[in-house]
Amino acid sequence: MAKSKLFTPFAVGGLELANRIVIAPMCQYSAEDGCMTDWHLIHLGHLALSGAGLLTIEATAVTPEGRISYGDVGLYSDACENAMRNTLERVRRWSEMPIAVQLAHAGRKASTELPWRGGAQIAPDQPNGWRTEAPSAIPFQDGDVPPVKLDHDALAHIRDAFADAARRATRLGLDAIQLHGAHGYLLHEFLSPLANQRDDRYGGSLENRMRFPLEVFETVRAAFPADRPVSMRVSATDWAANGWDLEQTIALARALEARGCAAIHISSGGLTPAQRIPVGPNYQVPLARAVKAETKMAVVAVGLITEYEQAEAIVGAGDADLVALARAILYDPRWPWHAAAHFGASVKAPKQYLRSEPRGVRDLFDDE
Ligand SMILES: Cc1cc2nc3c(=O)[nH]c(=O)nc-3n(C[C@H](O)[C@H](O)[C@H](O)COP(=O)(O)O)c2cc1C
Repeated sequence: MAKSKLFTPFAVGGLELANRIVIAPMCQYSAEDGCMTDWHLIHLGHLALSGAGLLTIEATAVTPEGRISYGDVGLYSDACENAMRNTLERVRRWSEMPIAVQLAHAGRKASTELPWRGGAQIAPDQPNGWRTEAPSAIPFQDGDVPPVKLDHDALAHIRDAFADAARRATRLGLDAIQLHGAHGYLLHEFLSPLANQRDDRYGGSLENRMRFPLEVFETVRAAFPADRPVSMRVSATDWAANGWDLEQTIALARALEARGCAAIHISSGGLTPAQRIPVGPNYQVPLARAVKAETKMAVVAVGLITEYEQAEAIVGAGDADLVALARAILYDPRWPWHAAAHFGASVKAPKQYLRSEPRGVRDLFDDE
């Protein structure tokens, strides 16, 4: 059997990953006042045993107002930092998997109900609600309470909050930071002309719309140790007329690369209810391939990657350097084990589980 590319190591910045499988960030809506709970220990704990190359902690808000919901994880207080430390210390006791955190601000899509309670906006005068903030006072959906337009002092405050969170991530020993520049949250709102209709230096031209996300990138890059990578997740297109698109994404990728960004994670959509997404297996891979052709940064593909051969084909063809899994790895948290068995490759597994190697499979577990 030819050697699987999916199971070859890869370095992002200085961070060595054992294979090309990344666990995508996934909000759990199970934090209390921004603090991780026992659920996060269970959730991150079992994913940390999955054999993936990298585990990414869910969208983690840099301010309380930057949370999507009242159940989001934050990294904006000592209490949040201590709760995350408690979780990480216990996960790390049993797993060496590198762990990244996705730092985020939800912008105008903040202050929502939990998804399993409908996910609608909670108005600022209701319990668990607050006034949202965005580049322009344009609501995400008709009928939502519009966000407050951020002034320059407020932008400085948010930049500083990203830097503070990066310093907390440093103290926590997190291996990498991913900035959430996708899915219609604050940084994406600055990029897209559909959400950003400012007439100051943060709106209008592409250069102006990229300014705030790039300032946040620079601030975080400067606040995090140089030998640990900082990357950005983007929506490569709004899938809507007159919105953010692939050509602008390539311009952003070049600007990020010039500022020392280690990787770009190519997702899409989330900015407007008017989006029309051609959802299907690999639907975002052509976007990743197009960005990969224009940058030297590591490129991550995501979106309905569910099959072992499908993932292998993406990295094998060089469409992306890494593949990220979200729903497929929630459904099958041992996906990387099963993929490794399929390709005759190996994964790290806990000593306690070594006896689970199926009959007929050899050297699946890498148990140094
Ligand atoms: C439960 C759940 C929570 C998610 N939370 C986040 C998040 O915190 N940050 C983010 O960028 N994307 C988030 N996403 C999107 C995923 O990271 C991923 O991009 C998307 O689900 C497509 O990949 P998939 O087809 O492998 O699920 C979430 C998806 C799911 C299913």
